[in-house]
Amino acid sequence: MEYRAVQISDRVYWVGAIDWAVRDFHGYSTNRGTTYNAYLIIADKVTLIDTVKAPFKDELLSRIASVISPEKIDYIVSNHAEMDHSGALPAIIEVVKPNKVFASVMGVKALKEHFHFEQELIPVKDGDALSLGSLTLNFLETRMLHWPDSMVSYLVEERLLFSQDGFGMHWATGARFADELNYETLRYEGAKYYANILLPYSALVLKLVERIRQLRLPIDIIAPDHGPIWRKDPMQVVSWYQEWAEQKPKRKAVVVYDTMWGSTDILARVIGDALAEKGIETKVMRLRANDRSDVMTEILDAGAIVFGSPTLNNNIFPTVADVLTYIKGLKPKNKLGAIFGSYGWSGEAVSILADWLKEMGVELVAEPLRVKYVPDKVALGKARELGYTVAERLTERGV
Ligand code: FEO
Repeated sequence: MEYRAVQISDRVYWVGAIDWAVRDFHGYSTNRGTTYNAYLIIADKVTLIDTVKAPFKDELLSRIASVISPEKIDYIVSNHAEMDHSGALPAIIEVVKPNKVFASVMGVKALKEHFHFEQELIPVKDGDALSLGSLTLNFLETRMLHWPDSMVSYLVEERLLFSQDGFGMHWATGARFADELNYETLRYEGAKYYANILLPYSALVLKLVERIRQLRLPIDIIAPDHGPIWRKDPMQVVSWYQEWAEQKPKRKAVVVYDTMWGSTDILARVIGDALAEKGIETKVMRLRANDRSDVMTEILDAGAIVFGSPTLNNNIFPTVADVLTYIKGLKPKNKLGAIFGSYGWSGEAVSILADWLKEMGVELVAEPLRVKYVPDKVALGKARELGYTVAERLTERGV
């Protein structure tokens, strides 16, 4: 097996793996695949930053071998214990036999609890520096971005930030650098990653962005653990994170629903039509045609979310329950909302939807619309009114 490393700065190489085929990343749809990035620093103490998902260990070793014999690695730094970055760690330790393996204090615990290995792990703390001889690594803890163990490493002499999950995206490409890729796709996949992975920790993201700015770290390169490396205007992606973390609502509405016999579908489309007529950017997303992670991506910058469900066995439709469970965990903020649904005889779905949205802190701004069997002209008129009301309330909010 032969793969090549890609040099990303004077003394740093990308030695990760490209997962072209993954389409489901723990429930997140990865239509463009992903990469598990690892980095090799050629210093007096040769150092590997992170590893890859377990099945890709040979690709990692092969890329390392294209630069240096893997046995020459002195140190391994694990910035994040989640198994897409640590899965290959036990096998790599076995091959490389490094002198030292470093992780944050929480990282040491998490790695031991994952792999139960005997290898001594050395904890490093926020602000610690590690001399690699000719180069220096500084560590910054970034707890909960993405797990309690997370930290980032800054290579002082190369002005390079190894940012683990932060500033990453799921996108498998032959190009290693963001400036070689399409801007709109970068922004979309970056937003999708943010919405589905980091959104609940937005307050911490804002603190980290502030800290990076206050430290005045000169950053020439941001090298995340997924997707492309940022070498041209790397602060661009930092600004995007600030924007997404602030969750300022846009003049945009997402209508999320599913349907049994088409009645809730008709209501959703009429509501969407009314919103669009009023100049609101509108997405109408039927759940059996849209993955939950794509719905969440659209919700990220929306000012309003409108949910619809038929009543099935005295409850909401299963796909609607799925997406609500998912969205609630991601804690989106600053949303207006409304609800609608069709029913045959009992009709509990709309009140169950109301409870969900209230629990999520969504401000309901229109009378719930509950329609028996198939909507007639009067019901369709009410659907249109619901769309107009949401549009007006967005306008009143100044978005
Ligand atoms: Fe890419 Fe939180 O792991």
